[in-house]
Amino acid sequence: MRKIIVTSALPYANGSIHLGHLVEYIQTDIWVRFQKMQGHEVYYVCADDTHGTPIMLKAEKEGISPETLIKKVHIEHSKDFYDFFVNFDNFYSTNSPENLELSQTVYKKLKQNKKIYSKMIEQFYDPVKEIFLPDRFIKGECPKCHAKEQYGDSCEICGATYTPTELINPTSSLSGSIPIKKKTEHYFFKLSKCESFLADWTSSGVLQQEAANKMKEWFKSGLSDWDISRDTPYFGFEIPDAPGKYFYVWLDAPIGYMASFKKLCKDKKINFEEFWNADSKTELYHFIGKDILYFHALFWPATLEYSGFRKPTKIFAHGFLTVNTEKMSKSRGTFITARSYLDYIKNPDYLRYYYAAKLNSTMEDIDLNLDDFLSRVNSDLVGKFINIASRTSGFIHKYFEGKLFLDDSRTHQEHISITQKCKNLDNQIKTLFESREYGRAIREIMHLADITNEYVNTKAPWMLAKDEFQHKMGSDLHVICSRSLEAFRTLSIYLTPVLPKLTSEIAKFFNEKEFKSFKDIDKKDITVNIYQHLLTRVEKKDIDMMIESSKEVLDKNIEPSKKLDDNQSTISIDDFMKIDLRVALIKEASFVEGADNLLRLLLDLNDGKSRQVFAGIKSKYNPDQLVGKLTVLVANLKPRQMKFGLSEGMVLAANDESEGPFILYPDQGAKPGMRIK
Ligand code: MSP
Ligand code: ZN
Repeated sequence: MRKIIVTSALPYANGSIHLGHLVEYIQTDIWVRFQKMQGHEVYYVCADDTHGTPIMLKAEKEGISPETLIKKVHIEHSKDFYDFFVNFDNFYSTNSPENLELSQTVYKKLKQNKKIYSKMIEQFYDPVKEIFLPDRFIKGECPKCHAKEQYGDSCEICGATYTPTELINPTSSLSGSIPIKKKTEHYFFKLSKCESFLADWTSSGVLQQEAANKMKEWFKSGLSDWDISRDTPYFGFEIPDAPGKYFYVWLDAPIGYMASFKKLCKDKKINFEEFWNADSKTELYHFIGKDILYFHALFWPATLEYSGFRKPTKIFAHGFLTVNTEKMSKSRGTFITARSYLDYIKNPDYLRYYYAAKLNSTMEDIDLNLDDFLSRVNSDLVGKFINIASRTSGFIHKYFEGKLFLDDSRTHQEHISITQKCKNLDNQIKTLFESREYGRAIREIMHLADITNEYVNTKAPWMLAKDEFQHKMGSDLHVICSRSLEAFRTLSIYLTPVLPKLTSEIAKFFNEKEFKSFKDIDKKDITVNIYQHLLTRVEKKDIDMMIESSKEVLDKNIEPSKKLDDNQSTISIDDFMKIDLRVALIKEASFVEGADNLLRLLLDLNDGKSRQVFAGIKSKYNPDQLVGKLTVLVANLKPRQMKFGLSEGMVLAANDESEGPFILYPDQGAKPGMRIK
């Protein structure tokens, strides 16, 4: 028996769980349920990630204390997870006594091992709010491409990364004031001294291939020391012997995995040391999103190594969720919370099934296509899988007292072969679950559901049932319905990690409490209850209502219209005439690798040359739908060298904070090259 700790990343305690998060929690929960069904000793722990400036500020905004906020969110998150059958052994909080103690222990050990030092640094400070500003709370002009309104850490237009002090005309997004530079002492973890350990560790098979490759890139640019302290006011743990200094949230967050487990140890009398000592023989797996790989594959193992604890056995990173191939969006209604899914679609198993069918062991993004979701769930689960039981169980009940006839010695091989086909898949299904190839597991299982349905079709038990002779025990009718239902039961057991709710109802239909182990497939003495409707179809109207209710109309930004009324911002007709606006034909359009928001357009003004333009319209437009259309180009804009190439103009689009972009098209009859006056 293996002894295993499994974790999912700790959700921030300042927002609701949404369908993106659920990719991870469902992926992990399936794996944990699978491992438990193999009889291993498995503990699945998680917690709310409660510390840091955003949480502190959110509480302030709501007029409550951070403690009250995180309590409120903990109740909400716990309920969401419970209702999605995400079955943690402990769902805790990083703001716990166990985490405080462990964080201090880890820090003291790192200090003893000479991995901590302090130095003065200069940081932006909001003089009005009297707080040092995290990068994300500073906005200004990009020092590279001069785009306005960019965050303090990186530019969304040209992709440059920089420090906030490099921003041009920075402002604090908390108070709108101009931040001042202020000196402060910070504590650092000497990550630069961990390079050889980390290079070995990250290439030792603990990471997926893609993740290991990513590491190599990071090593190439060299590891910088890690700033692990923040100044007061900060919601978090104070650093021992450093009054007014707090652990940066990312120091105590992963220690939260240990702390959640420690609490479980207390409650369940488990030996904490056996799992966390440096030479532990137990296994530790972290499921995470690809966005937090740096923390889990560099900071975390280095922290553990130099504080004398065990390191993770493996880190499993997954990709990001898109909805209808686009980033979840509040204005489009595709930023769907766990709760609104439950309110409208109700059954969590549908989403669990869909995600499982799409998941594999790579870091590729996964797409929730809502039409595909509807048809897949309805055709696979209702049309194929449940169908087996609904077509055959009635006869077993009516003529055979609910008892299955599975006596091999009195059954033709052609019927036994259905049993064998299903059971023979046992090992393969196990391998696929173990390696997180859920999509392939689902395909194999559904293939068997197809085979079973074909068997029922060809044998047509409803025809046989017309003959009274068939109502006797051991008849063909009895054998066919029994073998089909046995297959249905075997497939249900395979699907139990994915569909806990549905399969627990199926277990009851078979007069069993629950399916506990894959070994349950060998049961011989099987009976069924009266068949009651196990699953209903997903309805299109429920999906539509869910989307509609998720649409958030953000405050309309009134700034631009205000400016129109303002004399100072008017321009003369001469100024306007300087702008060369032209009708342009979109000859080509394509995605730009590495750019989140841009499309590359090739425009024709009927003057024998093509102009290349990068337009920030990817969120709304597909390249294909643009080719051949006419639009409006600012043709005499000074060409600009961007990271992705030269941009020779701009196309016009309507836009505001919450909606858009909407490209402008000229009325019918306009020709490429025409001047707009
Ligand atoms: N609090 C940190 C994790 C600390 S772990 C010691 C954090 N929280 S989070 O709430 O932003 O994200 C929690 C997990 O959900 C992360 O693994 C993240 O990658 C994952 N996801 C959040 N949005 C996601 C999608 N849209 N798609 C897939 N996974 C996503 O990061
Ligand atoms: Zn830029």
